[in-house]
Amino acid sequence: MTTRNMTQEIARIKKDAHAALAAVRTVSDLENVRIAYVGKKGLITEILKQMKGLSPDERREVGKAINVLKNDFESEIRERRLQYEKSEKERAQYVDVSLPGRRNSVGKRHPISQTIEEISRIFREIGFQAVDEREVETERYNFTILNIPLDHPARDGFDTFYTSRGALLRSQTSTAQGRIMERFKPPLAVISYGKVYRPDTVDACHSFMFHQMEGFLVDRNVAFSDLKGVLHLFAKKFFGKDTNIRFRPHFFPFTEPSVEVDVTCFSCHGKGCPVCSRSGWIEILGAGSIDPAVFEQVGYDPAVYTGFAFGLGIERICMLKNAVHDIRYFYENNLHFLRQF
Ligand code: PHE
Repeated sequence: MTTRNMTQEIARIKKDAHAALAAVRTVSDLENVRIAYVGKKGLITEILKQMKGLSPDERREVGKAINVLKNDFESEIRERRLQYEKSEKERAQYVDVSLPGRRNSVGKRHPISQTIEEISRIFREIGFQAVDEREVETERYNFTILNIPLDHPARDGFDTFYTSRGALLRSQTSTAQGRIMERFKPPLAVISYGKVYRPDTVDACHSFMFHQMEGFLVDRNVAFSDLKGVLHLFAKKFFGKDTNIRFRPHFFPFTEPSVEVDVTCFSCHGKGCPVCSRSGWIEILGAGSIDPAVFEQVGYDPAVYTGFAFGLGIERICMLKNAVHDIRYFYENNLHFLRQF
């Protein structure tokens, strides 16, 4: 490059640097501009390097201009930095109380967690202990212990996801029965809740993953009336003190007798309305006396011990109680929906 070209180049860099500094708004802008001009590969640094190829006379002539440019630029940077630091300190010192406040929205628990908490509090109050059980299971705990033999059509009722290694995703929280009874001796009063999985097509009422709560009680002389008493108490505490319950005969492989349990419709109080399909009753759970075949599987003597079990769907109960019409809302993280709870 000739000295004339270099002088022009220096003038151009000077103009650009001015413009760049004028556009700076923050400390980090300032640092970026600094690096762009006097950093290792900065424009001013580069042109300084090019001076090596000049004769001593030329160097004197151009060098002065470059050094002036570099010094001016660097002192401008220093000054601006001091200004920023000062105004930041000042800003930290004074709070403008006349400014409108920033509204923080407070997070809260998901409606499913709230429902689980509410239900489990009621059962804990009457002596049930909550345990956590695994979601990845074996056929033994999801089926065999629960008196659902291999190749038995009852398995169809509990459609299940299998993994490639012979493990499965539990399709019901009744797995807790075998898991706990195998490890502990009666008396037992246990609840266990969490996610269950079924290969259902997703629609307003179905999801491939949902939540259940299982409860069971085993001791000497546990009668079917004890199941009635516990569930009646639960229904009154959860749905309101005027709530009644009724039992309808049903079938589950691991309970005998088995029932489906309805509560008086909390929307119309039994008169009949769209919520309860005009029957006045709403089905909320499945239950029954534990089948002696289950006790045999876990090594309890069925002549000594009796018990009951019940299982309920958390989403279903939460939907009923809060008039939610589509199960998918629970999984969509839509704040308009979640804020209602
Ligand atoms: N596990 C059953 C289901 O998923 C519910 C149930 C639990 C029924 C305990 C009876 C006793 O449908």
